[in-house]
Amino acid sequence: MKFFLDSAKVDEIRYARDMWSIDGVTSNPRHVRNSGKPFLVAVREIAQLFEGTEKTVSVEVNPHHTTADAMVEEGLKLAALSPNFVIKIPATEAGFKALWTLKDKGIRVNLTLVFSAAQALQAARLGATFVSPFIGWKESNGEEVSHMVAEIVRIYRNYDFKTQVLVAAVRNARQIVEAALAGAHIVTAGFDVYKDSFDHPYTAKGLKLFADNWDATPYE
Ligand code: E4P
Repeated sequence: MKFFLDSAKVDEIRYARDMWSIDGVTSNPRHVRNSGKPFLVAVREIAQLFEGTEKTVSVEVNPHHTTADAMVEEGLKLAALSPNFVIKIPATEAGFKALWTLKDKGIRVNLTLVFSAAQALQAARLGATFVSPFIGWKESNGEEVSHMVAEIVRIYRNYDFKTQVLVAAVRNARQIVEAALAGAHIVTAGFDVYKDSFDHPYTAKGLKLFADNWDATPYE
């Protein structure tokens, strides 16, 4: 299973790359806004952090685009900026057309804003590299979501689709585990979610206990 960082902040991404060996990055317009930088400046800086690697950086087209042509035009421009870029396209009817058009031109697509197995099936059929079911948004609405991820994984296995299931909008370490149990290929989560995922209060407690005993024991 791969771990992507959901962020557009260069300092967070650099830390996640160097400290956690993160496998890739996903960004969206909200993350770019939070980076405090203009869109193209932010995505170019992120691309530089992964230059010469196979790691992917998902970059989203302008969400105001309503036609496939507009999404394709911007997707081609963005893809030309970095070989690491995977183009994020929304799961609308126009978005699905943009997906297969970009795929036919050799551009990798991350189909985003996916909230059902039916959308994920269309994404795979039309050649998405990644499909991004957003679990956090549904779960905060009281909906059960690990079942949806498991359904998508099962459908992809049934037909040997190569599209990878990238579980997104992950809010806590438990949801990372649920994505893994459901068989997702990738999870993307924010900086603080990963920070928490490395910790457990009993680890600190156990370390203190062992350190106290270490101090009370002669070394030789
Ligand atoms: C994933 O690709 C999205 O960027 C992300 O997970 C969206 O969710 P959030 O911004 O609500 O965390």
